[in-house]
Amino acid sequence: MSLDLADLHAASAPNDLDALWMPFTANRAFKKNPRMIARAKDMHYFTPEGRAVLDGAAGLWCCNAGHNRREIVDAIKTRAETLDFVPHFQFGHPEVFTLASRIASMAPGDLDTVFFCNSGSEAVDTALKIALAYWNVSGQGQKTRLIGRERGYHGVGFGGISVGGIVPNRKFFGTLLAGVDHLPHTYNRQEQAFTKGEPEWGAHLADKLEDIVALHDASTIAAVIVEPMAGSTGVLPPPKGYLKRLREICDRHNILLIFDEVISGFGRLGFAFAAERYGVVPDMITFAKAVNSGTVPMGGVLIRKSIHDAFMKGPEHVIELFHGYTYSGHPLAVAAAQATLDLYRDEDLFARARRLEPVWADAIHGLKGLPNVLDIRTLGLVAAVDLAPRADGAGKRAFEAMERGFHDIGMMVRITGDTIALTPPLVISEEQIDEVADKLGRIIRAVA
Ligand SMILES: Cc1ncc(COP(=O)(O)O)c(C=O)c1O
Repeated sequence: MSLDLADLHAASAPNDLDALWMPFTANRAFKKNPRMIARAKDMHYFTPEGRAVLDGAAGLWCCNAGHNRREIVDAIKTRAETLDFVPHFQFGHPEVFTLASRIASMAPGDLDTVFFCNSGSEAVDTALKIALAYWNVSGQGQKTRLIGRERGYHGVGFGGISVGGIVPNRKFFGTLLAGVDHLPHTYNRQEQAFTKGEPEWGAHLADKLEDIVALHDASTIAAVIVEPMAGSTGVLPPPKGYLKRLREICDRHNILLIFDEVISGFGRLGFAFAAERYGVVPDMITFAKAVNSGTVPMGGVLIRKSIHDAFMKGPEHVIELFHGYTYSGHPLAVAAAQATLDLYRDEDLFARARRLEPVWADAIHGLKGLPNVLDIRTLGLVAAVDLAPRADGAGKRAFEAMERGFHDIGMMVRITGDTIALTPPLVISEEQIDEVADKLGRIIRAVA
């Protein structure tokens, strides 16, 4: 389709919304009553009319340093003026190596190598492919099964939706990867409702991995992938001891363990990675989003030294891993990440999240007893409120909550089903935590 100038003006008019098919969006409802954002600063978004909307979601679990931080903006500008693009197939630029070392130094154990990509979905598919290829180059190519978990979210690539466990993300897309199995999810409202932090009940569910091993035999299983805290399904904190047990079972059976830390990485749970919070060293960690506070698309995988080293053999002119993306380690994303990690360090934002965790938990749990509130879960600077579904349709009450929050009450929230999720930037003040709780309370009452 070619457009002349008049068409171009028409196409950019704010009420012409037809050409864009929005991702993970109820498109028709959005286009009837758009939630438009024109600008952002620190803890706020601003509508095109200039109305401030408190960001209760760090964008999409991304903007941990707050919005439009001067230091990050300047770093991106400077890099754009000096180096627009480098092909990372067979060439490099010094800063991407520096960034890789820096991220590796923030990770626990011997997770010493970083493979860059551009999103969480790519990070997941990269990690799964490295797991499969690792067994191949190690002479155990029969280890091909991948184990995910019910209610898990690992992005939208075919690998990610295969190991993922959110039904609508899977059911429309054919048969997916063969040889995948799933652990049970860890949520049980009767046992866990209104828990602050990790629930006491549920560590035994890790033992279900033993049943899966018994069924398929460890000799066929390449890797287990879980989010340390399941996020997109509605925030399911791991039961106490659960992740350690998974690690023990994987060790016992020589199965790789991958933590998908696309949302838990970079301070969300008060540590650089959830792996540190839980004292568990997985074999790979995926990350994205907050690595550069959501400013330029970037993702990556942290990989244990022994896994990386297994590939470094054969003739030296031959590529060791036939995988990568044109934009892996893009100079703008790297510059943004360097500036973001500086801010995290200089403002001690991970420790700040740790310090604020009890304040946050008390504020959000204070909403217990409001109409339709079935459960509240908090962990790090994350919260979820389950609302009772409306009789006329699952998800309607939370959808309305999102709309009322944005249009009337001035706070952005995320929703999944009838769950409202909150994940503010880590720069949130104690007063703003009270404001979040107050606005959330008003939203919940508005949709009663
Ligand atoms: C745990 C997890 N993995 C992967 C992804 C996919 O990331 P992206 O949307 O950047 O592809 C997400 C996104 O929310 C996520 O929460």
